Parts: sequence; C-alpha cells; structure tokens
Amino acid sequence: MSVDPIIAALSGACSFAGLTLPDPLPASPIPLFMEWMGLAATSKTQPNPNAMTLATVDEAGHPSARIVLARRVDAARGYVVFFTNYEGAKGRELIARPEAALCFHWDHLDRQVRISGPVTRSPQSESDDYFRSRPGMSRIAAWASDQSRPLASRAELIEKNAAAERRFGLDPATPRDEQGRPAKEIEAALSVPRPPHWGGFRVWARRVELWLGHPARLHDRAAWTRTLTPATVDGAAGYEGGEWSGGRLQP
Ligand SMILES: Cc1cc2nc3c(=O)[nH]c(=O)nc-3n(C[C@H](O)[C@H](O)[C@H](O)COP(=O)(O)O)c2cc1C
Repeated sequence: MSVDPIIAALSGACSFAGLTLPDPLPASPIPLFMEWMGLAATSKTQPNPNAMTLATVDEAGHPSARIVLARRVDAARGYVVFFTNYEGAKGRELIARPEAALCFHWDHLDRQVRISGPVTRSPQSESDDYFRSRPGMSRIAAWASDQSRPLASRAELIEKNAAAERRFGLDPATPRDEQGRPAKEIEAALSVPRPPHWGGFRVWARRVELWLGHPARLHDRAAWTRTLTPATVDGAAGYEGGEWSGGRLQP
C-alpha cells in the first residue's frame, strides 16, 4: 500500500479534523501550546507525548536533528527544558552555538508546534532535582555512557555500565528482571550523584508556530515572535521576554 491511501484513511478517522485556531489569535501562543501538550498527554495514544525533535547546528553550520523528551515547560517565562549529556554531540553543539529549534508532532491530534530560540544551561538545582527523580539504574547509566563517542562493541558498553554499577555499590551479579533492573528496594537504596557533565538545557521561545491540520489541506497555521533580552533567571543566564506579536501564515 502506498503512503497516500493510508493518509486518506487516517484523515477521515481524525476526530479533531475541522478545528481551527482562535480568530482573532491570542496575544501569546504559550497557553495554546500548553493546552495542546496537555491534550497530547491525556489522549494517551502516543507513548511519549513530550517527545520533540531538537535541531542544532555545529560550528561549520551543519544541522543535526534527534528526538529528546521535554521534561518541563515554564509557561510564564516561555522556555522548554530537556536533559542530556553536555559532552555528547548535541551538548557540544549547543555550548558552541546556543541556538536550537524544537518540533513537536502529535500525529493523532493533527497538530505540530515549532519553537526556536537561544539556549542556556539549566541552573545546577534544576539538573540536580531532575536527576534525583530518575530511577537508580538510569542514574548509573548516565555515568556509564560517553554519549556520542564511538564504541567497539555492545559488550564494551555493558562492561562500562558494570564498572559504574561497582563504583556505586551495586554488584553486577545481582539478579535482575527482564528489563535489567534489580529488586525495587535495591534500586531505591542506590546513591548516585549527578555527573558534572549531565544536566538540562533551557530552550527560550523567540518564535512559536502552531499548526493545525485540516482535511481539505487548508491547514491552520500561525506564528508569533518576541524579543528576548539577556537576564539573570534563577541565578543563571536566561532571558526576559518582550511582548508577543503573531499572525496567520498560509499553509
Ligand atoms: C523517544 C526518545 C526520547 C529520547 N530522549 C532523550 C533525551 O531526553 N535526552 C537525550 O540526551 N537523548 C534522548 N534520546 C536519544 C537521542 O535521540 C540521541 O540519540 C542522543 O541524545 C544522542 O544524540 P547526539 O549524538 O546528537 O548528542 C531519545 C531518543 C528517543 C527515540
């Protein structure tokens, strides 16, 4: 079956088809973005409704994109937080060229959100809080992986992880479930600090575009921009946002 008949069948089945963005548009796109995130989360038809494509650019100007999970959105200040290894490819790119583009796509809702703007590192406390909330085995894995570096074999990664387990007091011979996790009480007792090279990035929305699919291809699309002025936020480098200015775009 070619792609077109599949799309035709799906668009007929989409219960959200025919919805439009408010007219006139709201002054800020952020409440609608939050509403769409909430809808994507509660409709439970997508395992990771907070998944977003993150596009970065290296020092030579070559773009690169991959999926990461949005872990926090500050609706008042207008930034999105994700966590990663600062020494991996995207980490190094964002530190050298702190600008990013994000794209959320909720296929079952026929919606897309694009956000772009400058990037800052999360304050230590934000990275610490989130790292503490992760399961013990994920915290150990953050120590084991030198993200984006070459690996000779899968066995090498397993050995690096076993070395990290020993370092944090977990015997690699401990019985595991089928997901590789030890008994709950053993995992809960692990004490694993945040690696200094692991933490959050905040992507500050300078431009937001909302896209709502329409069955007759007359998709509804609008974009907002604002100025961002450098400011200290939560004790770290951040931005103060100006007024949003928005308008509809041809699809
Ligand atoms: C659903 C999904 C969620 C992911 N979430 C993250 C994440 O939150 N942080 C992260 O560093 N990588 C995440 N990854 C892995 C990245 O896509 C990517 O492979 C990895 O971060 C290395 O990218 P880089 O070499 O460009 O730095 C996720 C992948 C998928 C498919």
